[in-house]
Amino acid sequence: MDKKRVLFVDDEPMVLRMLERLMRTLRDEWESVFVDSGRAALAEIDRTPFDAVVSDMRMPSMDGAELLTAVMERQPRTIRFILSGHADRNLIGRCIGATHQFLAKPCELETLRSSLRRALTLQNLLQQPALQTAVARIRALPVLPTLYSEMVERLRNPRCTTLEIASLVARDPSLAAQSLKLVNSAFFGIGREISDLHEAVNYLGVETMKSLALSFRIFEQFQGGPIPAALLERLWQHSFATAAASRTIASLREATRKLQDESFTAGLLHDLGKLILAAEDPAAYAGLEAESHRGGTPLCQLETARFGAHHAEVGAYLLGLWGLPTPVVEAVALHHEPLRTAAPEFAALTAVHVANASSHPDALPTPSPGNKVDLVYLTAIGCDGELEGWMSAVRNLGLGINSP
Ligand SMILES: [Fe+2]
Ligand SMILES: [Fe+2]
Repeated sequence: MDKKRVLFVDDEPMVLRMLERLMRTLRDEWESVFVDSGRAALAEIDRTPFDAVVSDMRMPSMDGAELLTAVMERQPRTIRFILSGHADRNLIGRCIGATHQFLAKPCELETLRSSLRRALTLQNLLQQPALQTAVARIRALPVLPTLYSEMVERLRNPRCTTLEIASLVARDPSLAAQSLKLVNSAFFGIGREISDLHEAVNYLGVETMKSLALSFRIFEQFQGGPIPAALLERLWQHSFATAAASRTIASLREATRKLQDESFTAGLLHDLGKLILAAEDPAAYAGLEAESHRGGTPLCQLETARFGAHHAEVGAYLLGLWGLPTPVVEAVALHHEPLRTAAPEFAALTAVHVANASSHPDALPTPSPGNKVDLVYLTAIGCDGELEGWMSAVRNLGLGINSP
């Protein structure tokens, strides 16, 4: 296998030495180059292309945001990471569009290795150069919400309590309100009003809370932007309904808690790519949706013709870079074409595929192209006999599912 090339940029010699030590243990996989300024980095990049660039945020003369923007313009297919300290949080907004992932300083070998590897695996999985170029060209890519990273970080500690997670959520009043609304919704059917956030987190579970925080904060990043508010609201409703339906399907299969959580998360995020493409060019996107409805061409096909990639690919690509679990990334990537899976068994992909299709009023029996339940796939994984039961359970959720 060819070695991949990664460029590290940091003005502090000590940090560079530390990174050099870390990367020495990965030298069979990665060829690393270390430079101390943005200018030197661009000179290196102009000489030979890199697969990934990992840059410090605060540097004299050219900071990380400027550097990665320049890298994006020169070599859009290069994966771009910011290695940031705690104090850089308020600068992160400046990196939107140019940065794929933030790594916290000090960076541990495992984190660095898995982030680089995951990026690489995804590059292979979603390898088409057209997709990478399409994603890299998009200017308004959302960034991984810091609240989510904080939750992931806290949950790494096995002693982390639900009270701790509840207090993190409480810092965001609108997320707190959404969580209470969710736990009190018909979907959970508790039969009494829960008004305490800690109780809500206990009830939902930390994984659900984490996914909710992630998708809520992502949607927030698009508010007040170019996407019409009505479309944003419709997509949020659809995403939430698909998440609830996905979890219901997984629980009917008596899937593990982990698989149920993955199904919920993937359901919430399955159309993330639609937000990204719609924000890129709202008028063109509305046109594609109308054309798909009118002419019966699958939306994915029209998106690919316009943007070079479709929403499922774009969303999955970003989620993969953010380090979401592979089953979630797979479910998002293949929710319109589940037969392309490498693992023909019930998975989050199955739940999201059926949940999404069921959320389209015309899913059965004469579905519109691109949104039908794929019976060949369900038969291949031995689930065709369960479809009817799933559909009626989803209908009984009464989520008023509508389709974007
Ligand atoms: Fe979709
Ligand atoms: Fe969808």
